[in-house]
Amino acid sequence: MLKDSIGTHGVSLSDLTKLTPTLKDIHAHFKAQHASDELAFMRLVDDTAAIKQVIATAQHIQKKFTTLIVVGIGGSDLGARAVISALRHSYGNELGKGMKIYFTGDTTDPTPLLELLDVVDLRSTALHVVSKSGNTIETMSAFMILREALIEKVGAKKHAAHVFVTTSATSGKLITLTQNEGYTLLPHGPVGGRFSVLSNVGLLPIACAGIDIKKIIAGAKDLRALLTTNTVLKNSAFIFAALHYLGYSKKNAHMSVLMPYEYTLKEFGAWYRQLWAESLGKDKKGQTPIAALGPTDQHSQLQLYQDGPHDKQITFIKALKRPNLKTPTVAIPGIEYFGNKQLSIILDAELEATALSLMMDKKANGTLIIPKVDAYYMGQLIYFFEMATAYSGELYGINAFDQPGVEQSKNFLHASLGNKDLQKKKEQIETLKKKIIPNIS
Ligand code: PA5
Repeated sequence: MLKDSIGTHGVSLSDLTKLTPTLKDIHAHFKAQHASDELAFMRLVDDTAAIKQVIATAQHIQKKFTTLIVVGIGGSDLGARAVISALRHSYGNELGKGMKIYFTGDTTDPTPLLELLDVVDLRSTALHVVSKSGNTIETMSAFMILREALIEKVGAKKHAAHVFVTTSATSGKLITLTQNEGYTLLPHGPVGGRFSVLSNVGLLPIACAGIDIKKIIAGAKDLRALLTTNTVLKNSAFIFAALHYLGYSKKNAHMSVLMPYEYTLKEFGAWYRQLWAESLGKDKKGQTPIAALGPTDQHSQLQLYQDGPHDKQITFIKALKRPNLKTPTVAIPGIEYFGNKQLSIILDAELEATALSLMMDKKANGTLIIPKVDAYYMGQLIYFFEMATAYSGELYGINAFDQPGVEQSKNFLHASLGNKDLQKKKEQIETLKKKIIPNIS
């Protein structure tokens, strides 16, 4: 990503050095504000009581049920999905070991929910309903449908034992229902959805999937200790934030591609995409995040990255250790050279070839190297990107923790569906509709 490697399209070391005093200020600000609600995500790893409760609840769910359905959207969904798909066997639901885990509530399209109802036996299914606000339409409509189906199967009295809720304990509609029905509550803390994976939100489904959440927490905690270093240019999350900020503001890098060369991190890209976009896309600023996957996207998006405009910074992720699987000796001339090779060596060669060829065309790219994809390093990766995002918010001078743009369309949605408190929004909708051009001829 640096000028020394790719010339004028790269960030110069002198610009990075010039930014050091700002980074130091941000570091001091984070230290001073560490107890604030805004930075509560940094303290999630210290909440041993909550972590204990998650483990006990997960053990109870595993004992009583065969299946868990997680109902949520956005930050109430993507973190658990990313970690479970990284750490659990890809065919975990088919293997017959441990719980089956399904996700829903991330759409109001009826098809996936109908199809889910075709495969689950609600009599042995627990629901983890996650919504900080408690009034998110996608989550709540899916939950209402599942709840009715569950009551039909096990009866109104017994259904409450199947429902586990993570919502704000003090506001929203879901808490009232939870209290009235006697559902188990694992409260949503003061963190925003996209910073909540290391709380009850993500940890309960992750623990139900049989993953050791203590190791995830240990990884995040150890990285936190490393990032407290006062030498800001030794702080990896600062470097990531600074390179991207300088790329955006000085080198026209309006897009940030995350392209792990680890298949199990495919869903992690979707989590990063939300974190980067929803936190930093404000005040007419922000890099557009793109979730890609290597080497799959070498055969899809790479043409654009290689030959398209100089408007992206590409981050690869590589693990040093992967399982062994060797190709057999190939006797066919012309392809014999990839016989008798570990797939992992081929994968590393693919990453190197892509990175070098991008470098040759002066396209900004960098590689994050992790020892392996396991619970401990997933904890580190999560914490790394959360911190890089929070630091970036300070660099851009925006609030990384709100999402006013998302609220606008939510209000339009609720108004159009008949929420009487949003009459003004309804009028705005009608005015806007008049401006739609139905066809161009
Ligand atoms: O990160 C965020 O704050 C959002 O993506 C929310 O998680 C998402 O909108 C869902 O909101 P809620 O948890 O209130 O249902």
